[in-house]
Amino acid sequence: MEHQQIKEYIEANKQRFLDELIALLRIPSISAKPEHAPDMQRMAEAVKEKLIAAGADKAEVCPTKGYPVVYAEKIIDAKLPTVLVYGHYDVQPADPLNLWDSPPFEPVIKKTALHPDGAIFARGSCDDKGQAYMHIKAFELMMKTNTLPCNVKFMIEGEEEVGSANLGAWVVENKQRLKADIILISDTSIIANNTPSIDVGLRGLAYMEVEVTGPNRDLHSGVYGGAVANPINVLCKMIASMHDENNHITIPGFYDEVLALNQAERADLNKAPFDMEAYKKDLNIGDVQGETSYTTLERTGIRPTLDVNGIWGGYTGDGAKTVLPSKAFAKISMRLVPNQNSHKISDLFTAHFKNIAPKSVQVKVTPHHGGEPVVVATTSTAYQAAAQAMQTTYGKNPIPTRGGGSIPIVALFKKELGLDSILFGFGLDSDALHSPNEHYGVFNYLKGIETIPLFYKNYAAKH
Ligand code: BES
Ligand code: MN
Ligand code: MN
Repeated sequence: MEHQQIKEYIEANKQRFLDELIALLRIPSISAKPEHAPDMQRMAEAVKEKLIAAGADKAEVCPTKGYPVVYAEKIIDAKLPTVLVYGHYDVQPADPLNLWDSPPFEPVIKKTALHPDGAIFARGSCDDKGQAYMHIKAFELMMKTNTLPCNVKFMIEGEEEVGSANLGAWVVENKQRLKADIILISDTSIIANNTPSIDVGLRGLAYMEVEVTGPNRDLHSGVYGGAVANPINVLCKMIASMHDENNHITIPGFYDEVLALNQAERADLNKAPFDMEAYKKDLNIGDVQGETSYTTLERTGIRPTLDVNGIWGGYTGDGAKTVLPSKAFAKISMRLVPNQNSHKISDLFTAHFKNIAPKSVQVKVTPHHGGEPVVVATTSTAYQAAAQAMQTTYGKNPIPTRGGGSIPIVALFKKELGLDSILFGFGLDSDALHSPNEHYGVFNYLKGIETIPLFYKNYAAKH
């Protein structure tokens, strides 16, 4: 498949490509909210229909204990290599709704500073409907132009944003039909539209919920205040104590397994362009902060973190209520790096949290979903095929980078299927994933559709 032919097909079909994505973005497939179960089903059916229309031999909405996995395949010759495409059709909740400039499930295209050609504003536009749909359109392109050079399988799940709890079991049960040579995923970012990059790392995750109980009931804060432990005060102190003055995490053993990069590797990572002023300006922050003696790229790429995602308790309604609450709660997550293990870290956290709790309170710790970190080799045929494809379509060799996010299922693919993944993302970190006004550049969407067929071409040729 020649680059010119790809560009012509995209030029002739781009309005339809956009319209089809916009129609899918109208479906509020929020996996976290049970009331959206019918939308989840509708979304899975729509993805299946799109895969059939694009040219799949068969496509199926496969039930799981949770939301279904959409599976499809096009086998042209069993002797040829097989690319297994993974993506997710579920999205994060759109809350807080009042911070959106346009409704999250009524997509609109607007220009932005970083997207002068326009960006599609909608929940899931970048994460991950837009990026997953590029693969379906690239597949259509290869089918319609008779240039698909190898076999392809699709596995588009509906529970990524809630921890992929049921995908693991589905993968194990479907090992045979998932046989492939490489997994291809577009669910990460590039550095900038004129600076292509490929993620060669993802962080793992350990997610905990804690409950701190003081007195057996809410108390009058004047009558008892000063004499009885306030669980919110205590929780804040406990949380604060989990970072030292160097922003180092204080849980004993937390860093034991962390793989330290050598100076050359760190220097390499820091070669990636990074504009501190633009970064601060984009976030409207006066300064960055993090672990002493690491750069921002290192802090998000190769170092673990501990962050409070939410904290609540006591009175938060209108006006003032003088209360010494009985309970305080927090959701605390830790991003992990090679070779940390999410189960080990959960255990260390639990033991430490209980250990630092004063006698005046009782604590309960509940682990939520987790996932293991990933590193991708740049020496593989598949990585080279992806890099070469970007070289062709961007005119620049992509920079290997470490993404700070997590896609827990990637480590599981390696463990259960023995397969490596290529993190072939085309979004920008500033596309407001999980935030109000999520968007995906029209340029990025079309560039993905342009680059993916070249990956197939290069990969099939080298394999
Ligand atoms: N697509 C993201 C992960 C991502 C985003 C990786 C940008 C690299 C760059 C994915 O959908 C996601 O949000 N994952 C969750 C993990 C999950 C267990 C909820 C995350 O990273 O918080
Ligand atoms: Mn995603
Ligand atoms: Mn996400």
